[in-house]
Amino acid sequence: MSPLDPRFPHYMLQEIYEQPNALQRGIDHYFSSEHRKTTEEEFRLSARDAESVRRIRIVASGSSRFAGLYGEYVLERLGGIPVEVDYSSQYAYRDPLTEPGELTVFLTQSGTTADTIAAQVEAKKKGAKTVVICNVKDAPITKDADGVIYTHAGKEVAVAATKSFTAQLLALFALSLYFGDLRGSLSKVRLAELISQLQSLPESVGTVLKNKGLCKQVASKYLAQLTWMILARDVSYPIALETALKFKETAYVFAEGFPTGEVKHGPTAIVDSSLPIWMVMTRDPQDAHSVLRYEKSLSILKDLRSKGSPIIAVANADDELVAGLSQDFIPVPTTDPLLSPMIEVIPSQLTAYFLAVGRGKDVDNPRNLSKSVVVE
Ligand code: AGP
Repeated sequence: MSPLDPRFPHYMLQEIYEQPNALQRGIDHYFSSEHRKTTEEEFRLSARDAESVRRIRIVASGSSRFAGLYGEYVLERLGGIPVEVDYSSQYAYRDPLTEPGELTVFLTQSGTTADTIAAQVEAKKKGAKTVVICNVKDAPITKDADGVIYTHAGKEVAVAATKSFTAQLLALFALSLYFGDLRGSLSKVRLAELISQLQSLPESVGTVLKNKGLCKQVASKYLAQLTWMILARDVSYPIALETALKFKETAYVFAEGFPTGEVKHGPTAIVDSSLPIWMVMTRDPQDAHSVLRYEKSLSILKDLRSKGSPIIAVANADDELVAGLSQDFIPVPTTDPLLSPMIEVIPSQLTAYFLAVGRGKDVDNPRNLSKSVVVE
């Protein structure tokens, strides 16, 4: 086990803080000077392979599946390929239909998750081409894969995935650009713009880390809360799911994530002043679709507030409107909506960490869990 840096009381906090460097390593690997060449070598997917893909199925468990849900947005929008996401444990035993030209992507930080390995066996049986996205060099699942994409998070010790999760998002983003570029679904101008915004990602994550104190305050204010609602929209929705999982597995509080627009279809019945609602409310003023989604979320935020719910908003630093409407406001830098999830998840990780510490839980080794789930 790598030694704990004495500046940090727990691996989870250390690993949260390692994210700017881990993301920088990933960016360097996937996007060094000769973008296409480097990516092709890294991904072991030839241009011909990439061009022949008709559908992608992402199969994973836990946080890795949430990363996969993010992958669905970016691979469809940037890569121009239809994507489906499945739970490893479901895929392995439901006799899924596969078709020629289908690429099955297995996401697993450890590479030892029994459910995901079982799903890979099933996919191979069905003749699917497989790519594994993994954080551990030569992990068992990589042996039988047609292609392997490594994430570059470095060893993660804490059971709760943090840096391995953002590294997976980055790998999926890079894969989407690769497909989009090769298949012509992404213009050269948009590609250059996204790669340029990507360069500021490590710094933006560092900026959010400087707001550690705000997350600590939120955690101490809501320490006694045993239930939470987490809302986010569009490509940020997987972050709602990841936030809910982080709260559950580290602080042992029940949290459920919903797409923001879904809240009125049932969950609103449990909304009252005793239920804190964590809302991701970011928007990119340069992007009309993002602004439209934000406005829809804003009217939901106002409605939830009128029902008395305490709102903890993760929103852009310049958003005075949301700052004024929420009880607690955690600012994050503005970036392209497809990159924003890698920033939005940082306050969730920090707050989960401080909730766990405040509630006296075993932060790095939550009860009943292990880093590598090797049984189905
Ligand atoms: C995440 O914090 C959890 N530890 C868990 O959900 C994990 O993501 C899941 O078990 C999958 O693990 P893997 O990425 O190693 O396959």
